[in-house]
Amino acid sequence: MTVLTVKEALVAAQACGLARIDAQLLMLHALNKPDTDRAWLVAHDQDLLDAKVQDEFQAISLRSRAGEPLAYITGYKEFFGLRFAVDKRVLVPRPDTETLVNWALDVLRGINNAQILDLGTGSGAVAIAIANYLKCTVTATDISSDALAVASGNALRLAASVKCVQSSWFDNIETRSYLIVSNPPYIADADPHLVALVHEPINALTAGRDGLRDIQQIVEHAPDHLIAGGWLMLEHGYNQSTEVRELLAKRGFSHVQSRLDLTGIERCSGGQWAN
Ligand SMILES: C[S@@+](CC[C@H](N)C(=O)[O-])C[C@H]1O[C@@H](n2cnc3c(N)ncnc32)[C@H](O)[C@@H]1O
Repeated sequence: MTVLTVKEALVAAQACGLARIDAQLLMLHALNKPDTDRAWLVAHDQDLLDAKVQDEFQAISLRSRAGEPLAYITGYKEFFGLRFAVDKRVLVPRPDTETLVNWALDVLRGINNAQILDLGTGSGAVAIAIANYLKCTVTATDISSDALAVASGNALRLAASVKCVQSSWFDNIETRSYLIVSNPPYIADADPHLVALVHEPINALTAGRDGLRDIQQIVEHAPDHLIAGGWLMLEHGYNQSTEVRELLAKRGFSHVQSRLDLTGIERCSGGQWAN
């Protein structure tokens, strides 16, 4: 094997189709350095790579080029300023989901001891972000025991007060909450975008022919699990806001509204249960 310098290995990876930033992050991972050390790569670009590091870099570059999310390769993803451990048992938390967390924090401002429920918690990203920011307890559910194992590991590592409950939506939930948040599956079964998401759990992604099956179920049953004046907030697809607002209004929610994601798309919708 030809021994490469840091720079040569990075250039070769980019020539094979990796983005520069991904190649750098993978190199730092292979070198066992933090992802904040990109300046090190520049300062040391003529260093010869250790054979083991070079092998590892080539192997993980191949995985990345095959479409595996960087977060599964490095084993973590930053969300709301926190570092979450992730693997193929859970969806990689997306920056757009911070919209849901920010909206939840707005609604919870000035409310003490609110019961909060995160449905379909996955890695625990939403529940843990809220619990850590507000120093409160959040109940987090998922149908997947694998996902709950990841979520409870993250809660422990990040010292967040999160109670994990295995449940299909509200099946095992007996309490009423002031806030129910959820980023449920919302992609249509035949959506062409799924091709790019094959590494992530399909149960975290798809929700029937129109992608609205799970949102419909949550909207239908949420009123039985909200206190008067409580809120339901849902993340949904880029083109689903009108339909989700209609579902909420039809079910009797008031103050039905949407929130924009980082790219200006209506990404979350919700309403207040006033009855
Ligand atoms: C889009 S992922 C969201 C994960 C996480 N909340 C996030 O924002 O990164 C949807 C989650 O819902 C869970 N899920 C799917 N069907 C469910 C059901 N019937 N009841 C509860 N959770 C479910 C999946 O296992 C997955 O973790």
